[in-house]
Amino acid sequence: MKTERLLIEGGAKKVWSTENSDIVVLEFKDDAAAYYGLKKGAFIGGGAVNNKVSNHLFKFLEKSGIPTHFQGELTDLKTAVKKVRILPADVIVRNVSAGSLVKRLGIPEGTRLKNTVIEFFHKGGATGGTLINDYHIIALEIASREELDKITKYSLLINKLLSEYLLQFQIELIDFKLEFGRFDGRMILSDELSFDTCRFWDIVSGEMLDQDRFRIDRGGAEERNRMLLQKLMGG
Ligand code: TMP
Repeated sequence: MKTERLLIEGGAKKVWSTENSDIVVLEFKDDAAAYYGLKKGAFIGGGAVNNKVSNHLFKFLEKSGIPTHFQGELTDLKTAVKKVRILPADVIVRNVSAGSLVKRLGIPEGTRLKNTVIEFFHKGGATGGTLINDYHIIALEIASREELDKITKYSLLINKLLSEYLLQFQIELIDFKLEFGRFDGRMILSDELSFDTCRFWDIVSGEMLDQDRFRIDRGGAEERNRMLLQKLMGG
């Protein structure tokens, strides 16, 4: 599939138009990603790791009944996806306290939450990254009540499916970020699901296996990522 025009360039990805107006190509940027991995004995960059992990998880979710934007992996860094209109709100799903939840609520990191917590962050205009609730989502016409119910239902189901899937590799899904968009009148899962958008902790050692660990200690990242990729993708 040939790319035509650069539509948007974000921190982690570029989005290209194609000859098909319903399809765009995501190009993952190597320099922005935290991770490196192994492919057929050779190291690949972080963009390729995120592309592959995300596609692997999206295919798994699609098979389990979650509609996603995924169409097909084109190269190590490029994937064809449906051209969705992304909602200007991120959905964060949390099982265990970490990151901004710890800072906001002052609870100890690693506390298992009594129920799954879903948060919405507005990412538009001057208020980018602001915590909002259902009322804001509907008042700002980010989504209708019906769409919001669907987003919530999908988010909880994705959490259940991914948590169970990762458990077989002794990985605990701590929290993650989702982005949804509209395509053909339907709400579908978009963006990416990768080591840069999820917190994974090793159940046996209690080690962080995600971007947080990389931020804390850059050393040993390659070995850790090789192990993680192998665990996740059998590669
Ligand atoms: P937080 O604890 O910093 O709010 O992050 C919660 C989860 O969401 C964590 O797995 C990282 C992910 N995330 C992103 O992917 N992009 C973002 O911009 C933010 C703030 C969080």
